[in-house]
Amino acid sequence: MAYENILVDENGHVGIITLNRPDVLNALNSALIEELSDAIEKFENNDTIGCVVLKGSDKAFAAGADIKEMQPKTYMGAYKEDYFTRTWERVADCRKPVIAAVAGYALGGGCELALMCDFIIAAENAKFGQPEITLAVMPGIGGTQRLTRLVGKSKAMEMCLTGRMMDAEEAERSGLVSRVVSLEDLHDETLKAANKICDFSHPIVMLTKETINRAYETTLAEGIRFERRMFHSMFATADQKEGMLAFIEKRKAQFKHR
Ligand code: CAA
Repeated sequence: MAYENILVDENGHVGIITLNRPDVLNALNSALIEELSDAIEKFENNDTIGCVVLKGSDKAFAAGADIKEMQPKTYMGAYKEDYFTRTWERVADCRKPVIAAVAGYALGGGCELALMCDFIIAAENAKFGQPEITLAVMPGIGGTQRLTRLVGKSKAMEMCLTGRMMDAEEAERSGLVSRVVSLEDLHDETLKAANKICDFSHPIVMLTKETINRAYETTLAEGIRFERRMFHSMFATADQKEGMLAFIEKRKAQFKHR
């Protein structure tokens, strides 16, 4: 697939996807989402890639779903195409870690896309918001659910009912982002985190991601049971033997990703 709305690059074992519709602040249209979904699929199937970084520009991660594309939609059309479900959730379904590097606006579907990633590193100029209410709709790409789980009912209600944006500092305080860095450092800091993840055993990283995500889907007792079984399974990997032996022998581990 030729990409016209995203840029795709690799840095060592890190796959980098840059949303690239600068004229419309990376508004997410269906062509962009098809391309994003394709790029995620390719990185997921590429054994040399251990982690993916998703970013936008310095001004906007993404200012939401493309309002011009969305405005004429009908109920039956949206229902039949299963709008937002088919391709948009591909990022959330990625089995490898995906880090969002957010600078500038992350609004509506842009905020929801960032929330589909495993964690968000934000630049100081980042602004998060769910302004759909101003368009007479509500968040429809997971915002009412993922945002509420992260920041709690009160802040999620306020953001979705008033459209108020959160700055980076409030987003970090509220648990929406893992940390805030300067705009100049955003790219390097995100790559550093991604490269660190890639240095670890890829299957162990994937199992860890899957296990943490289970926390959102189940009761504590079931989640703990799942964690315990996944933990036990790690003793079947060559990397566990190597990781612990390397510690005992006081040397750097050489993971084989199996
Ligand atoms: N869709 C389509 N085009 C968009 C867009 C969007 N979500 N956001 C910005 N653009 C376009 C603008 O129309 C404008 O294009 P033109 O130059 O052709 O007029 C261009 O990007 C630049 O935008 P502005 O001139 O508005 O830039 P600004 O700096 O003055 O304001 C902004 C920036 C505050 C982000 C403003 O653009 C804005 O409010 N955008 C819309 C945000 C929004 O409502 N997002 C939610 C969309 S709904 C959604 O995402 C669906 C869902 O969950 C269900």
